[in-house]
Amino acid sequence: MEESKASHVVIIPTPGMGHLIPFVELAKRLIHRDSITTVTFVVIGEGPPTIAQRTVLDSLPSSISSVFLPPVNLTDLPSTARILTRISHTVTRSNPELRRVFNSLAEEGRSPTALVVDLFGTNAFDVAHEFQVSPYIFYPSNTNVLSFFLHLPRLDETVSCEFWELTEPVKLPGCVPVSGKDIIDTAQDRKNEGYKYTAQDSKRYKEAKGILVNSFIELEPNAIKALQEPGLDKPPVYPIGPLVNTGKQEDNEFEELQCLKWLDDQPLSSVLYVSFGSGGTLTCEQINELALGLEKSDQRFLWVIRSPSSAANSSYFDSHSKTDPLTCLPPGFLERTKGRGFVIPSWAPQALILAHPSTGGFLTHCGWNSTLESIVNGVPLIAWPLYAEQKMNAMLLTEDIRVAFRAHAGHNGVVRKEEVARVVKGLMEGKGLINEGKKGKGVRIKMKEMKEGACRVLEDDGSSTKALNQLVF
Ligand SMILES: *[C@@H]1O[C@H](CO)[C@@H](O)[C@H](O)[C@H]1NC(C)=O
Ligand SMILES: *[C@@H]1O[C@H](CO)[C@@H](O)[C@H](O)[C@H]1NC(C)=O
Ligand SMILES: *[C@@H]1O[C@H](CO)[C@@H](O)[C@H](O)[C@H]1NC(C)=O
Repeated sequence: MEESKASHVVIIPTPGMGHLIPFVELAKRLIHRDSITTVTFVVIGEGPPTIAQRTVLDSLPSSISSVFLPPVNLTDLPSTARILTRISHTVTRSNPELRRVFNSLAEEGRSPTALVVDLFGTNAFDVAHEFQVSPYIFYPSNTNVLSFFLHLPRLDETVSCEFWELTEPVKLPGCVPVSGKDIIDTAQDRKNEGYKYTAQDSKRYKEAKGILVNSFIELEPNAIKALQEPGLDKPPVYPIGPLVNTGKQEDNEFEELQCLKWLDDQPLSSVLYVSFGSGGTLTCEQINELALGLEKSDQRFLWVIRSPSSAANSSYFDSHSKTDPLTCLPPGFLERTKGRGFVIPSWAPQALILAHPSTGGFLTHCGWNSTLESIVNGVPLIAWPLYAEQKMNAMLLTEDIRVAFRAHAGHNGVVRKEEVARVVKGLMEGKGLINEGKKGKGVRIKMKEMKEGACRVLEDDGSSTKALNQLVF
């Protein structure tokens, strides 16, 4: 590491809270490693920053500052434009303002030395090149998904059908084979503009001076080693994770505190935490079936329940309905599970729940953010992927790292109550299911090893700290 020259790292997170959190943790680690690094967040978006974004950014140390660019105007895009189309235009249309920021930083004598963008932010590299600033990518997901992204330009050239039509899985060095239908959803429907922008981004990855990935060597040893082989035509890859939200949440609402109090009264590792993340929604039918399955499992559970969606494949970016999710529950469910079940509408202090000793399992949508939070707390998983790259994450967690059970959907895409009960019992205790019980124990032991690994790699001489220190920004 060059000690003499001050580094000033500009970070542009792609719109959306989930991606801001790991970036904030990255910024904290960068200023922690030496006293000459400063960081500026440049926040872009279609609308003004949310209160949550502002609160997070305003609470950071003084060597991390933030600039909020004016919202871009996307009213000319068709209303059917997919999220990737919108993100791509947001980044491109923010470039003129980004130039202005780079110029004024230069006038203040604080010229940026590096630009770090998100997985879909490579259009900002245009500005980095103009100002001769080194461009980097921070990939907030795992190395298996990154490998797929790096391979996408080649797939784009060689495959003529839709990826879900592929009869053979895509096999990449060191990675779990990915079947076509599990591929990240922005790469499905190749005639859609959203796909075009995904492919375009992936083609620009080779312009980066380095790619930082939110993973660590003990979690994905083979995928990481394969990407670090010398002589490959791609930038060096630095596993610097797990970067997760460590900040304690203040101002918890009464209901949230109630759920922590309830956890205090439960036996060690006895509670299954159920949450599909800030974006995940289930249909009313699926909420009902999940409830019946949880009831049938006889296990304790803490369930964050959100308003239902209308279609099984809907996601974060569809408008959420206003239906009260409690109306989807089977009649009498809350009374029958009183004491062993706790249901909270909308939001819960996830980091505190996963760190609580009573929590013994996590039924999750497999968002990488939530997955890493579970890993640092050693809580084994039930994988129930919904959208984005979550099916790829679920395969990695169940087939390769082996820290998760997979909940399988029946035909018409609904996970039935019997299946819910099977995986919940299997993970939590294996009662009546000899093989599942054995597997449950294996998953628990493996998750404990990953937790220890996660802790080790972030120590001063750990592999993720060393990888970060190799970066000269
Ligand atoms: C990631 O975790 C943080 C902290 O628990 C949470 O606030 C945020 O909403 C999560 N993001 C996603 C996309 O789940
Ligand atoms: C956005 O652009 C459209 C033209 O594409 C224009 O009619 C509209 O006034 C603009 N909106 C704002 C808020 O600038
Ligand atoms: C969701 O699924 C329905 C039926 O399978 C399909 O018609 C629709 O286009 C899908 N929506 C999205 C956003 O993929």
